[in-house]
Amino acid sequence: MARRPVIAGNWKMHNLQQEAANLTNEIMQALKTEDKEKLPEVIIAPTFTSLYAANKALKDCGCGKVRLAAQNCFYETKGAFTGECSVEMLKDAGCEYIIIGHSERRQYFGETDEMVNKKAKAILANGLIPIICCGESLEQREAGVTDYHIASQITKALRDLSKEEVAKSIIAYEPIWAIGTGKTCDATEANRVIAMIRNTVKGLYDTTTSESIRILYGGSVKPETIKEQMSKSDIDGALVGGASLKADSFAQIIKGAM
Ligand code: 13P
Repeated sequence: MARRPVIAGNWKMHNLQQEAANLTNEIMQALKTEDKEKLPEVIIAPTFTSLYAANKALKDCGCGKVRLAAQNCFYETKGAFTGECSVEMLKDAGCEYIIIGHSERRQYFGETDEMVNKKAKAILANGLIPIICCGESLEQREAGVTDYHIASQITKALRDLSKEEVAKSIIAYEPIWAIGTGKTCDATEANRVIAMIRNTVKGLYDTTTSESIRILYGGSVKPETIKEQMSKSDIDGALVGGASLKADSFAQIIKGAM
């Protein structure tokens, strides 16, 4: 069964509410004439305070072509966890997906593989879909431990998840050295690592699961890079940072994945 492509925009810490509403509207305007059935799954991930505004813009449009994600969550359901948002809260805000384990969260906020695993479980238990990020640093790549590191991140992130849960999850391979640097990972190499991730999932579960899970590439994805990336056997889409902040470049990436 063919996997439906996914193009997700991670807005990171950008866009006030009005800017988020405007960008959401511009993206939908740019996709207006596209056939919904032919579009990839299009996801936008605004920051917490702009989720409401983006969700309202999506609902007002009612075209159902774009879905909402959060950039993070906490795994507990409620309680004294100052500054955190539960999965239920994010679902209530309109989110259907949650990005977890982004390298920026790991680097600046101490997110560990164990936390990523707990978050994945909480997300799936609430009927949402985790977008689980993994990726190696330049030092790890140069030391030749990329595959070992990524396989370890994925194995730990998926611990104790059922094969049905894994089959509907999304993984994003984002080499840290390619994020925000303009240095896109060569598509053949990105595909090799992503195939390795798929093989890791196969080893942990089975072929049905590994052939179902969508695995995206992220790291300086641009309108000029998407076609080659999408032509590869195992790359199912992209997690886009900088180029998702302008409707024009994000729409070009979406159209490049059709
Ligand atoms: P850039 O596309 O800006 O490199 O960011 C990638 C990313 O981190 C998406 O999560």
